Formats: sequence, structure tokens, C-alpha cells
Amino acid sequence: MPNLENPQERTLAELGAQDPATVSREFANVRRQFDEQTAAFGDQARFQMLRNAWLGRKSGVLTLIVKNWLTPAPASLKPCVGQGLNELRAHIEKRLEEYEQAAQSAAEDAASGRERVDLSLPGIIRPLGTHHLIRQTFDELERIFLSIGFSVAEGPEIETSYYNFEALNIPEFHPVRDDMDTFYIDVPPAQEKAPRPDLLLRTHTSPVQIRVMERRQPPVRVIVPGKVYRRDNPDATHSFVFHQVEGLAVDTDITFCEFAGTIEYFVREFFGSGAKTRFRPSYFPFTEPSVEFDASCVFCGGRGTSSGGGVCPKCKGAGWIELFGAGMVDPAVYGFVNYDPRRVSGFAFGIGVDRLAMLKHGIEDIQLFFQNDVRFLRQFP
Ligand code: FA5
Repeated sequence: MPNLENPQERTLAELGAQDPATVSREFANVRRQFDEQTAAFGDQARFQMLRNAWLGRKSGVLTLIVKNWLTPAPASLKPCVGQGLNELRAHIEKRLEEYEQAAQSAAEDAASGRERVDLSLPGIIRPLGTHHLIRQTFDELERIFLSIGFSVAEGPEIETSYYNFEALNIPEFHPVRDDMDTFYIDVPPAQEKAPRPDLLLRTHTSPVQIRVMERRQPPVRVIVPGKVYRRDNPDATHSFVFHQVEGLAVDTDITFCEFAGTIEYFVREFFGSGAKTRFRPSYFPFTEPSVEFDASCVFCGGRGTSSGGGVCPKCKGAGWIELFGAGMVDPAVYGFVNYDPRRVSGFAFGIGVDRLAMLKHGIEDIQLFFQNDVRFLRQFP
């Protein structure tokens, strides 16, 4: 039932508003009423209630004014009622919008107050990782050899015995295979009656020499960093997985002098100018002549005695420490990669990276590299 207290519940005729002046007075009354009610909106619930009361589609004040004032108004009063209605609507909407904006920015202020970063609080210290010492040693070796024209090559850790042995001039039953006993991989053959694939974990990085020479013609100058595997019992200097950097240089005019010069340059860069070097005769089926390369002991300065006067425990009094095997590439190897041994010559070396790092940093047990004890790792940031 309409509340006849409210002027918009009655028609203009019932209100006695017959001319523009009285019509605009009626509008002014309604507007005052609105202003009084909305002087303070209070909370969000009250705001919604007031919005519905004034703008609600079914029974809001403006809807009633359209229904009771505008629609039945005589044609002469319609323009003036329409204008009053528009002005009232604009006033109401502006006021409601202002309130909404003010409420929203107040809410944002409150939220940002809650979320403000307190710069005086201590920061969060996030521990940063570093490269493992073996990775650092690889990087150092790569830097040295890249600086003299070598590039980096890679090969698979799972090899065939052809690349790991035969193509390196190590035929089946050759006694050298005893020193490089490894882990064989038992893969079922692709088809019934087909031979089992002859796969193993590579025992050295030397097979990559063959893979590189198969793909490229001389000149070849590569180093091959990588992981290798042997069925060695673990002790202070042996691990069943360790790391090597292979080196190979083949060209038409490479002699033992280039070989010696390259190795000496590397040792000086890696250990410093104080380190002396020497070759000792050795044997590898894939190099001829073959050598072991020694450096003067970095722990006792090559004297063979420790600072306390006893025998140096690192070089066991020799004053020299074995670094790696190397030699001039055996011409038989060129036969496996279709190089002409009368035209080309070269040298190769295979550095044990773990032992090199041990020597440089005075680390006594190779197993420390694989135990991942942060107390050890943190010493090499
Ligand atoms: C070889 O592996 C040859 N392929 C090196 C070579 C390359 C010779 C090219 C000539 C031409 P050898 O078995 O000596 O050689 O191993 C090379 C180095 O690997 C050793 O000097 C040693 O530093 C390291 N090494 C060998 N076995 C182990 C092991 N079980 N644990 C840690 N390091 C090892």
C-alpha cells in the first residue's frame, strides 16, 4: 500500500502542483529529503538500502516519480517534470558515486596500510649455491685450452666397445683392457636372434677422439670434458666414476715440440709459473710414443720433503706428481677414421680432472667430491 506521506506516492494533481513553479518546489522537497537521508551513509549495508530506496527499479523514488508524476502529467507540464526528474537523477547518482569512490579508496588505504613493507625489518638471507669444484676445474681447463685455439666436443657416456676399445687400437683380449674394466649394459636385442648391443659405460674420454675424427677432416683441435667409469675399488685416489678432459690435435705438421709446448703452457696456466714439468715414457695402444706427464710437487716445491722435515706425503719423496697420460696419436688409429697417416700427425692427452683438482687445492681424498658435504663444498665458493 502506498505511503501517502511521501509526495512521490501521489500524482502532481493530488499534490496541487499545476504549474512549473510548484512542480520544481516539489522536486526541491524530494531532493532535500534525499540530502538529509544521505548526509551520512553509515556502513555498506545502509548504503545499499538507500541506493535501492532511491534508484530501485520497481519501487525506488525515481521510478515512482516517473510513474506518478511524469506519466500522468498534462502535456504542458511534461517538459518541466522531465527536466526536474533528470536533474534529480543526476544529483542522486553523483552523490552515490562519490560515496562509492570514497569508500573504495578508504578500503584501499586500509589494505595498503596493512601490507606496507617495513624496511627496518631484517632481510631474508637466501643461501646461494656455487659451482662444484669439479665444475670449476672443468671451466678453468676449458678457459686455458680455448685461449690457444681448441674447441669443446662431447660424446656419449654409454659407448660401444668399438669406440671405447677397438677403434683405439685395443683389440679384444688386449691386456690393457684389464686396467679399464668397466660396467657393461645388458640391453635386450632389438629383434629375436639379433646380436645383443655391445654397450658399456665409457672408461675414458678417448672414444670421443674417434667420433670427432670420423666427422671432421684435419685440422682438428678439441678438448672433451666428461664423466667416465671404471670398476675400480674406491680409495683416496680412485673412484668408480670420475672426470677427464681429453685433448686431441691433428694437422699436417704437428710434432712432439707442439705437444710439449701445449702441455707446458697448460701446466703453467693451471699451477702457476713455479711448476716444473717432465715426461716419462709410458704405454697406451693409441699413442706412440706414449708418455706420462709429471709436474713438480706443488706441496713441497719439488724438494720431496715436507716443511716439518720428513718425506712429503703427497709425492712420497719423489718431488714429482703424475698428472696424466698422453702421446703422439698412433698411426694405426688414423686407419679407423680414414685419415692418411703419411699426411697427418697429432697428439692426444687424457687428464684426470679429479686428481688435478686435488693437487691444486691440497685435497687428500677423492671421495669428498662425491659426498656432497656442504662443509667441504663451501670451501670452494
Ligand atoms: C687414460 O684414460 C687414457 N685415455 C689417457 C690418454 C688419452 C692417453 C689420450 C693418451 C692419449 P689412464 O688410465 O692413465 O689413461 O687415466 C688417465 C687419468 O685418469 C689418470 O692419470 C688419473 O688422473 C685418472 N684416473 C684413472 N683412474 C681413475 C680412478 N679410478 N679415479 C680417479 N681418477 C682416475
